[in-house]
Formats: sequence, structure tokens, C-alpha cells
Amino acid sequence: MKVSFSAPAKVILSGEHAVVYGKPALVSSLDLRLKTTILKGEGESLENLNVVEKVVEEYLRKNKIPFKKQSYRVKIDSQIPIGRGLGSSASFSVASVASFLKFLTGKNFSKEVVNNLAYRVEKHFHGRPSGIDNSASCFGGLIFYRREFEFLKVISRLNFKIPKNIENKLYLVDTGKPVESTREMVEKVGRLLNEKPKETRLIFSEVERVTKQMVVAIVKEDLNFFAKAVKRNEELLEELGVVSKFALKKLLPLKESGVFKITGAGGEKGPVGFVLYVDLKGKGKEVLEKTGFSYFKFKFDDKGLLEEK
Ligand code: MEV
Repeated sequence: MKVSFSAPAKVILSGEHAVVYGKPALVSSLDLRLKTTILKGEGESLENLNVVEKVVEEYLRKNKIPFKKQSYRVKIDSQIPIGRGLGSSASFSVASVASFLKFLTGKNFSKEVVNNLAYRVEKHFHGRPSGIDNSASCFGGLIFYRREFEFLKVISRLNFKIPKNIENKLYLVDTGKPVESTREMVEKVGRLLNEKPKETRLIFSEVERVTKQMVVAIVKEDLNFFAKAVKRNEELLEELGVVSKFALKKLLPLKESGVFKITGAGGEKGPVGFVLYVDLKGKGKEVLEKTGFSYFKFKFDDKGLLEEK
């Protein structure tokens, strides 16, 4: 018996960090996948998979869904760079939850069930995630996401794509793996909110405005308006203290041809993970090479979680 599911990477286009505090964020899934395969037989277990197994079994027991435990081995194949803001952890959680559900019961479950369980797994890994990463990976496409309460997450899957005139200008630039974990960066913003509640809440409100502007820019296929939102979102993230001086200095050449923003939790001391770059003037490669970082073209995905045969 072999069970296999894959789930895509994600890119937060606008609203990271503010989304932890109930503000909306806009996220897109990306055409890079992680695949979990479970096979019958003996094999070494991974610590992270034990978490998935525990969460899935708890759910099945609580809902009185019959399942059969049997020994297994697992294979993970991933195209997603790890720990750099592209949601490798969330795609692992989503693909692995779906695989375990099917391995234990022989049945497929809805994406809603998989997503809820993947969120529980993510909480084990990251403390207090907003749930945006696993939702983007599970459902795929463009998602306007807002966590109203712990029990109510509004996942609005928009029925349009990133238009080609915008997508063609987008690159993802790899500044490297941040020294800090997502959990640490989320805690850092939490401290700022405690120390300067009024100012920080104002930043979050401004992020919300920018996120909505970005949705409008996409609907109207307006590249310049989109770029303006990216630039403003980056400024606000810098105010939140999640963009290191190191990265800003290295990314300076990008300004010759366009605008950029970090995507995901960012970093304080060194690298900030991946950066979303909008190459407005079309000098793309020339300025990207100057940064010394590796990069690739953004490619939209709208399939989300998939069963692999
Ligand atoms: C991480 O990809 C995005 C953050 O907003 C954290 C979260 O939403 O859980 C920084």
C-alpha cells in the first residue's frame, strides 16, 4: 500500500505579522511542491511526523472514525526551500496530514478537515501561527485570509489569478535562512505591540489598507498600483523591525529597477528569507545579479493539495 499527497509553497503578498493580530492578509500559492509518501513497512520515524500522526489519530478517535494502525515508512520529496518564508513547514503539515488520514482509514477527507488538522500541527511547530500558511498550501490560488477568532478563520479564495502583466514582473530572491525562527519573529512583534501599542496598532491598520489596495490592483490588473502596495508594505514591515539592515543593504541594487518586500516572518540580524521583487523597468537579471543572491521567477499555482498517484 502506498499513499501520497503533495502541497504547494506559498508567498504572502501583503499582511504578514499583522495577520497574527486579526488583520487580513493576501497570500498566493506557488508552483513548487512538497510530497509526502507513506508506504507500508518498517522505517525510521521523523519527530515532526510523530506530531502529525498524533494529531490525526486524536481527530479520528474523537470523531469515532475507524482506523487501522500499521507500521509504515515515509518519504518526503520537496522542491521548497526550507525556513525562508515560502511555507515549507505548512506544505509538510498539509501533505502529511492528508497522507496519514488516508493511510490510516483508506479514505479521502475534505480540504477543510485537512486544513484544520494541519493548523493544529503548525501550532506544535510555531506556537501561535495565524493559519495563513497552511490555508494557502491546502486550498491553493489567491486567498484573502483573516483570523477573526481562534475558532473562526475567514478563508476567502478569490476566483481570479494574479494577472500575467503582474506575474511576469515578479521574482523571488533568496537572501538566505534567517537566524531567527518564525516563532521568534512573531514574538518580537508581540513585544513591540506591548511596548508601543498605539503606534503598532496604527501600523497594522495601515497594513490592512495596503492589503486591500493590493487586491484592487490585482483585480484591475494595475501593475503600478500593485508595486506601490508592495513598496508600502515593505516600509511598514521595516517599521515593525522584521527587516534586517544586512538584507536592506544587499538588496539596494533592486531599487534601480523596481520595488521589493520581504515575504513571511523576516529576520532581524542577517538574512530575511525570500523577498518578493517587482521588476518594473525590466532590468531584472542585471540588478538581481548585483545582489549576489539566487532568484527565480514567480509562478502561480491554483491547485493546492493534490493526491499523487
Ligand atoms: C509567516 O509565514 C507569516 C507570519 O505572519 C506568521 C503567521 O501568520 O503565522 C509572520
